[in-house]
Amino acid sequence: MIVSIGADHAGFIYKEPIKEHLAKKGIQVLDEGTNSDQATDYPDYAFKVGNRVKNQQADLGILICGTGVGMSIAANKVEGIRAALLETEFTAESSKTHNHANVITFGSRVNTIDEVLKFIDIFMNAKESDAIRHVGRVEKINKYEEKKWEK
Ligand code: RB5
Repeated sequence: MIVSIGADHAGFIYKEPIKEHLAKKGIQVLDEGTNSDQATDYPDYAFKVGNRVKNQQADLGILICGTGVGMSIAANKVEGIRAALLETEFTAESSKTHNHANVITFGSRVNTIDEVLKFIDIFMNAKESDAIRHVGRVEKINKYEEKKWEK
């Protein structure tokens, strides 16, 4: 499995611990920056990570900013991206099972690093549900994006 990871200045502090956590599991990580706590713009990293996933260079994207909100808004602008902001164990599970999220975002000013690592584990251990209702809902989103759905 390959994970693409990115953070802005607010999320930078969580990027290394997450990379270490993934490395211990034998997961390859593509680090898209940022590499310091100098102020920077979260969309730049969201688009880089989103495109890695879109282009199938990574299986999952992880993005961290102060709230996780800006990263999720920006990543969801990339075609084919279903970015989920994870703040609880419940959303960590259901964003995978119900929504088939392919990018997960976190807020360093919202959750502790231990919580974030737990959410990552829950998400990674969960399976995309093949229940027809969930697959159908994700498919509606895909069709809307492909302009095959009435806008
Ligand atoms: C940066 O101060 C902050 O706005 C950013 O990290 C993020 O929380 C935006 O959604």
